Amino acid sequence: MADKIHVAVLGYGFMGSTHIDAWQMINGCIVKGVWGRDFSKTKQFAAEKGIRAFPSLNEILDDREIDVVDICTPTYTHAEYAVQALKAGKHVIVEKPMALSLRDADRTIHAADKSGMKLMVAHVLRFFPDYMQVKKMVEEEKIGEICQARAFRGGPFPAWSPWFGDVVKSGGVAVDTAIHDVDFITWISSSTAHRVYAKITRNVNSDSSKYDIAVINIRYGDGLIAFIEASWAHPPSFPFTMKLELDGTKGVIALDNQSPVPISLYTKDANHRYAPESLPWKPMIHPFPLDPFYRELSHFVDCIRRDENPMTDGRVSRRSLEICLAAVKSSEIGKPVNLPLEV
Ligand SMILES: NC(=O)c1ccc[n+]([C@@H]2O[C@H](COP(=O)([O-])OP(=O)(O)OC[C@H]3O[C@@H](n4cnc5c(N)ncnc54)[C@H](OP(=O)(O)O)[C@@H]3O)[C@@H](O)[C@H]2O)c1
Repeated sequence: MADKIHVAVLGYGFMGSTHIDAWQMINGCIVKGVWGRDFSKTKQFAAEKGIRAFPSLNEILDDREIDVVDICTPTYTHAEYAVQALKAGKHVIVEKPMALSLRDADRTIHAADKSGMKLMVAHVLRFFPDYMQVKKMVEEEKIGEICQARAFRGGPFPAWSPWFGDVVKSGGVAVDTAIHDVDFITWISSSTAHRVYAKITRNVNSDSSKYDIAVINIRYGDGLIAFIEASWAHPPSFPFTMKLELDGTKGVIALDNQSPVPISLYTKDANHRYAPESLPWKPMIHPFPLDPFYRELSHFVDCIRRDENPMTDGRVSRRSLEICLAAVKSSEIGKPVNLPLEV
C-alpha cells in the first residue's frame, strides 16, 4: 500500500456525509470519491465536499488506487456491497448493522476471510468519549462485578430517510438502533449472551403504524442481565437521548448524554461526576479530536497500517446482530429465545 490511504464512500446521506467529514480530518487519508444511486445528486454532493463523484460502484472496485471502501448506504445493501468490495481486494468498513440476517453476516465474514482484507463494522458507540470513559471505569473495577445493565436510546423517528420505516430494509428499531447498546453491553460483559426476551411494539400515542419501541432483556453467561429500551416514537422536539446504568457489586455508573456532566459514579463512600477528558462538554457536539467518527475511522486506519484486527470485526459484530435478531424473533413468538440462533 502507498503511504496514503485512499478511501471511497458509498452513500452520500447522513452517515456518508458524517464519515467523509471525519475521513478528511485523518492524517494520511484521502477521500478519493463517493458513489450514490442518483448521479446528479452525487455530483452536487461531491462538489460540496471537494471530492470526485463516481458514476458506478464498478469504477470504485476497479480503481487500483482505492484501498478502503466505506459503506454508508441503507442497511439492506450492506452485505452485498461489502462482499463485492472485499472480493475486489478492498478493506471494508460498513455501517452498523452489518447485515439483516445471519446468513448475510456469514457471507460477509467469509468474504473477508477469503480475501485477507480488513473488515470493520462501524459500531461508533465504542468511540464516544463518554462511553469510552465508562469502559475505562469498568476496566479499573470502579464498580466491581457488573450484575445489571440498563440502557435507553431514543428520540423521534429518523425521518430524514423513509427506508428506516420499512422493516425489511432497516430491521426496525430493535435491529437498527438497539444494536448500539447491545454491542456496548456485550463488550462490557465478560461472556456471551445466551437468552433474549423482547417485545417490539408501537407508540400507543402516535398515529404511526411502525413498530417503533423495543424493550429487550438479555441474559449473559456470566449472570449479567441487560435491559435495553430503544425508541423511534418520541416527538420531534424530544432530544436524542442516550442513557446507561451499570449496577455492580461495588457501585453504580450512570451515563446521561443530556446532562452537562454526563457520567456519575456512585459508591459506598462517595458520588463522583465526570465529563470525559477536559474539554467543555456539549451533548452530541463533539469537538475534534473527540469526534467519535474520527476516532472510529482512525482505529480502522491503525488496524490496516499495523495489520491488526479491528475491535468490531465481522465475528464480534455478528454477535450483536444475532442478539437483535433474537429480540425480533422473541417478540414475534412471545417467548424467550435461546442463543445461538439457527442460521
Ligand atoms: N452510527 C450511527 O450512529 C448511525 C446513524 C444513522 C444511520 N446509521 C446507519 O448508516 C447507514 C446509512 O444510514 P443514513 O442515515 O446515512 O441513510 P441515508 O441518509 O438515507 O443515506 C443513504 C445513502 O445511500 C444512498 N442509497 C440508497 N439506496 C441505495 C442503494 N440501493 N444503493 C446505493 N446507494 C443507495 C442514498 O442515495 P439516494 O438518496 O439517492 O437513494 C443516500 O446517499 C444505515 O445502515 C444506518 O443504519 C448509523
